[in-house]
Amino acid sequence: MATIIPVASFDCVVFGATGDLTTRKLLPALYYRYKDGQIPGTSRIIGASRSEMSVEAFRERARDALKRFVPARDLDEDKLGAFLDHLDYVAVDGAGDDGWEDLAAKLAERPDQVRPYYLATSPDLYGSICRNLSVHGLIGEKSRVVLEKPIGKDLKSARAINDAVGEVFPEEQIFRIDHYLGKETVQNLLALRFANTIFERLWTADVIDHVQITVGETVGVEGRAGYYDTSGALRDMVQNHLLQLLCLMAMESPLTLDANSVRDEKLKVLRALKPITPNDVQAVTVRGQYAAGAVDGKPVEGYRADLGGETASRTETFVALKLEVQSWRWAGVPFYIRTGKRLPQKLSEIVVQFRASPFSIFPAESFGREPNRLVIRLQPEEGIKLEVMTKDPGPGGMRLRPTNLDISFEETFKQRYPDAYERLLMDVVRGNATLFMRRDEVEVAWAWADSLLKAWADRPEPPRSYPAGSWGPTAAIALIERDGRTWHEEMH
Ligand code: BG6
Repeated sequence: MATIIPVASFDCVVFGATGDLTTRKLLPALYYRYKDGQIPGTSRIIGASRSEMSVEAFRERARDALKRFVPARDLDEDKLGAFLDHLDYVAVDGAGDDGWEDLAAKLAERPDQVRPYYLATSPDLYGSICRNLSVHGLIGEKSRVVLEKPIGKDLKSARAINDAVGEVFPEEQIFRIDHYLGKETVQNLLALRFANTIFERLWTADVIDHVQITVGETVGVEGRAGYYDTSGALRDMVQNHLLQLLCLMAMESPLTLDANSVRDEKLKVLRALKPITPNDVQAVTVRGQYAAGAVDGKPVEGYRADLGGETASRTETFVALKLEVQSWRWAGVPFYIRTGKRLPQKLSEIVVQFRASPFSIFPAESFGREPNRLVIRLQPEEGIKLEVMTKDPGPGGMRLRPTNLDISFEETFKQRYPDAYERLLMDVVRGNATLFMRRDEVEVAWAWADSLLKAWADRPEPPRSYPAGSWGPTAAIALIERDGRTWHEEMH
C-alpha cells in the first residue's frame, strides 16, 4: 500500500452540487481520499447550486450518492458519517446575484484554507461564476478554479470561456480537467516511456510501423442526449481524451515533470498534427452513428430512437481517423484512432506496432515475420503486454508463435485502482497542474478539430450507420486495411 501524504487543509466549493458529475464522480472521489486519511479534518466540501436546501438535506443526498456509487465493501459507516460531517451547502445563483454574500461569509470563517472552486456546471456559467467570485473578493493566492470539459464547442467559444476565466484567475490557478490524464495507466505511459531505456530507443519511425488508439464504450448517450447531440464523438472524446493520449504517446521527453515542461511537449505534438482538409476527409476519416442492435447480449435501440425519435440527426457517435504527426520522429508513421458509443466492449488501449523483421529465416508458414506489438491497456484489466515471437515447444520443427510478456497491474500491485478524479482533485489542492490542460493546448486542439468539423459539414452524406454492438461502420475497417494493416484484436 502506497504511503498517503495528507494535503493541506481546504475548502472546496463545488458549483453544480446537485448534478450528475458531483454525484457520480466528485463525492465518491472525495470520500475515498478522506477514508484513506489524505484529507485533513479541518477541510470542508461546500456544495453550491441554485436550489434552496438545508445542509442536512445536502448530506442526505450525498449519503444516497455514495451508497449508489461506492461499492458496499468500501463504505464504512463510521467513516461515511465522519465524511458527511465535512459537507456544507449554500444556495448560490451562478448566473445572478443571489447567495454570494452567504458563500463569502462561510468562506470567511476559515480564511487560510486552500480554496478550490470546482465548476461542475454548464460551461455557459463559467464566466459569470468567475466574475462573481472576483466581485465578492473570493479570489486569493490560495484559490484555484477547476473547469470541467467541454471547454467550448469550437475554437471561438473555447477562447471566450478562457478569456472570461482568465480575466479573474491567472493561468497558474486554472485547472482544466481531462479526466483521462488522471487515469493510473495513462500516467503509466509516462513511466513506461521515460523511466525505461528500452522503449524510448525504439520510439521512432525507423522501428514503429504505426500506432492505434481505441477508446470503445458500450453505453449509448444515456441521459445526456441533449448535450451529446450538439457535440458528437469528435468534440466529446477526440478533441480532448484521444488527442491527449496521442500527445503522451508521441511527445518528446519533457525536461522535468513540472506542469509547463510536460505541457510544452504536448503542445508541440498538437501543433504538428496535420490538419484534415476537404480533399482528404474521405480518405482518412470515418463517421458513424449507431443503429439498433445488441450489446452484452441485450437488444438496444438506435441513436435516433435514443434521442426520442428524432430522425434527422447527423451527429456522429463513432469516429475513426488516420492521423499524421508531422515531425522528424513520426514522419510516415500513421496514428489510427477510433472511439464510439455502443461498441462491443468498454475498452481503451494503445497499440504500438513495430515494423516486421526485414527478412525471415523461418519457413513461410511459421509466422516468422509477425511484427511485435506493445499493447498498453488503459481499461479494463489495466496492464502492458509485449507480443514477442517464440518457438512452439516440441520436436516438431521450427514453428513460431506470438506470445505475451504480460504485466497485469491488478495481479502485480494487488490494490484498488483509484479513480482519476481522486488523483486530480488532490493535485488541485496541491497546486500541481501537470495533469491538467493549459489554455494553448485546448485552443490548438480546437483549431485542429474545427477544420475537420468544417470539412465534414461541407459533405452531403450523413454518418454511416453501424449496428449497436459492432466495432463501427465497415468503412472503419477499410480505413486501416487499405494500408495493409488491421485493428488490433486480443490474442487468445
Ligand atoms: C466523458 C465523455 O468525457 O468521458 C463521455 O463526455 C464518456 O461521453 C466518458 O462516456 C468516458 O470516460 P471513461 O472514464 O468512462 O472512459
